[in-house]
Amino acid sequence: MSATGLILGIETSCDETAAAVVQRGAEILSNAVSSQIAVHSPYGGVVPELASREHLRNILPVVREALAEAGVTYANIDAVAVTEGPGLAGALLVGISFAKSLAFALGKPLIAVNHLEGHIHAVLLEEAKRPEEPRREQEAGPTLALVVSGGHTHLYLAEFSEGAGTWTYRNVGRTVDDAAGEAFDKVAKLLGLGYPGGPWIDALAPHGNPEAVQFSFSQIKAKVHRRGEPGALDPTEAIYFSFSGIKTAMLRHTQVHEMGASIEARRAALAGLPDPRPADAAPLCDQRTLDLIASFQRSVVDDLRRKTFRAAEMFGAERVIVSGGVAANRELRVRFTAEAAERHLPIAFPSLALATDNAAMIAAAAWPKFVAGEVARDGLTAEPSLKLGS
Ligand code: KG4
Ligand code: ZN
Repeated sequence: MSATGLILGIETSCDETAAAVVQRGAEILSNAVSSQIAVHSPYGGVVPELASREHLRNILPVVREALAEAGVTYANIDAVAVTEGPGLAGALLVGISFAKSLAFALGKPLIAVNHLEGHIHAVLLEEAKRPEEPRREQEAGPTLALVVSGGHTHLYLAEFSEGAGTWTYRNVGRTVDDAAGEAFDKVAKLLGLGYPGGPWIDALAPHGNPEAVQFSFSQIKAKVHRRGEPGALDPTEAIYFSFSGIKTAMLRHTQVHEMGASIEARRAALAGLPDPRPADAAPLCDQRTLDLIASFQRSVVDDLRRKTFRAAEMFGAERVIVSGGVAANRELRVRFTAEAAERHLPIAFPSLALATDNAAMIAAAAWPKFVAGEVARDGLTAEPSLKLGS
């Protein structure tokens, strides 16, 4: 194969070992993902130590799979891209050590990518593939990006700089406690459902009444707005999310309504199945539980929707993109799409395979950096709390 502009992306920031070959930030030649769900499932969350070991076990087979599926060899690759952070330190180190050694041995450039920028590029990548649509980066207005996953709930104002040929980001919103995906995961665990919780709640919510239980989102205290504090944003122009309150409200609701026994029965029934799936849970849920699940999902989706569109208005964004694992949620897509239509704002989501963690998004985010000659420093290391933008 004589194609050029080939980047091998590697992603190991959390619980997916992923490798992909992407051409010129637009064409996915392969996208291999080895999920660790089965390893972490019994614990109801990612166990960092186990994640690192699984990455070490899987990285070489996954990279080989990505190259084979793309029909290329190491010699055909123009650069290696790897996730620098944020994420679990030990998990990131596996991908970074591997990518560094590989780039060194091949004498090819290594490009460091912020995982959050990767999620944004999951959407940009698919747009770049559709030449019939105008290339957004050539248009003047900024993009408002909601990155919403198990570890993050961030709003960014993203702009393409024609001169530099790269994207710049301004962080205009974040969660002060749990990420939205974390709330899905913890609530699913509380209700005796499987891991990760998002797909389970997504599947069960349509069976319940989303108006049955009303949740209120507490106002974020002024003190977290103060400038100079770690992670503080511009106090006059920032949007804050908080998802720990709804988790506690859900727990209280199950206690007040004495749902404990039915939750334990459901947990035991699912544990007895060889490969429990969300569809198996519906017959194990009574109407009260289904209503609670539907109400939880509606509340979280509506809070994300209201604040995202408020930010779009505040910052004069000309379009909205939503990415990260929670962007796979069906109700979120429907309600965000309806509001965008009302406001005449274009909106885009990644395809389902690119919403959750993958390496195609890492290779795509690396492309403008490769073109601009932005290679990783020799001392590149894992940055578990890496921020994106200013
Ligand atoms: O982006 P991702 O794969 O990993 C992180 O960077 O965190 O996101 C995983 C998160 C999990 O919390 C999972 O429950 C959530 O995304 N998720 C969903 C759905 N699919 C995955 N949340 C709601 N609805 C879904 N359909
Ligand atoms: Zn992610």
